[in-house]
Amino acid sequence: MAPSSRTEALGRLDGDDELVRAILPHCRLTRGGVWEDPVRGHRVGVCDAADPDEVARLFADVRVRTVINDPPYNVIVGGVKKSDALGKMTLAAYLEFSRRWVENAVACMADDADLFVWLGADYRDHFRPLPDFMVLMRAVEALRAKNYITVRNQRGYGTQKNWMWIRQELLHYAKGNPSFRVVYTDIPKVLKGYYKVVGGAMTENIERSRSETIRPGNVWIDIQQVFYRMEENVPGCYAQKPLSAIERIMRCCSDEGDVIGDFFAHSGSTLIAGERLGRRVITCDLDPVFAEIAIRRLERFRATGKAGWQWQSPFPEVTGDATESDGGDAADPDDGRLF
Ligand SMILES: C[S@@+](CC[C@H](N)C(=O)[O-])C[C@H]1O[C@@H](n2cnc3c(N)ncnc32)[C@H](O)[C@@H]1O
Repeated sequence: MAPSSRTEALGRLDGDDELVRAILPHCRLTRGGVWEDPVRGHRVGVCDAADPDEVARLFADVRVRTVINDPPYNVIVGGVKKSDALGKMTLAAYLEFSRRWVENAVACMADDADLFVWLGADYRDHFRPLPDFMVLMRAVEALRAKNYITVRNQRGYGTQKNWMWIRQELLHYAKGNPSFRVVYTDIPKVLKGYYKVVGGAMTENIERSRSETIRPGNVWIDIQQVFYRMEENVPGCYAQKPLSAIERIMRCCSDEGDVIGDFFAHSGSTLIAGERLGRRVITCDLDPVFAEIAIRRLERFRATGKAGWQWQSPFPEVTGDATESDGGDAADPDDGRLF
């Protein structure tokens, strides 16, 4: 089968039913199946995040320290036909789906645990569904709002008549009283000020601070979006989150050996981040193709040390493989790949 993308050996899977049909026989899991990692105990399942029985079976014997969930945003971007798993539903149906997966997340979380939720707002649809989701969360008694992070993308989408849309939202909720570890970015402190007399001498803030670099705060400006030139890129995945963002969450909100949950695996970024940081990851996707990609990505990482396929195919038996020059000569894509 010919590559369906100009730069990657495997095109967006949500736009190509024929490609998905060709890949499915190469996927080791079907609905309800769970792959158990013999090395570290990670699990990858093909489950519906909104189904209490399927989620309870996947997380049967574990309590999760941090859930990092990136559900479909119910937003159509770029006119690409979406798969059943990513189509647009009514707001009421989307909120019911959200209520159900949040309830399932709370049930598998430890007494002191964090829930992170990536979500989007569509200005063409009155910013749905972000504010609606936030209001919905007020009714979830077990969770309290802890923070609201905005990740600033380098590239965005938009026109000459509007501000470029370069933001991604990351909501942070807490159950109980989970610990939090302060981390720092690589961004140097540049602003002087906040003068204070210490021991009789006037000092300014940079002299007094614990680090020469700034903390990430709740606006992250140092996260590179994934695109095909990056080693961690997974062709076929249209909503891949950067490992650096997920690893920051894990460093702040978990310890080595802790269990991390992700109900929407897609490219398996949470799984790879957990593998790299010594966390155990339990994850699932409704689509067997993405569950297979997540497992293959882990196997590839262990075999080669590479975090993704860059522009090469996770399914070379179906697509053939790309040579380096297939991707290397092309121009950088200018898409946000937000969803
Ligand atoms: C936004 S993507 C997640 C991206 C992921 N964080 C990454 O970095 O690759 C959402 C994923 O949720 C999956 N999905 C949609 N509905 C689902 C459901 N009810 N249960 C589980 N997964 C679902 C889709 O197949 C898609 O792969």
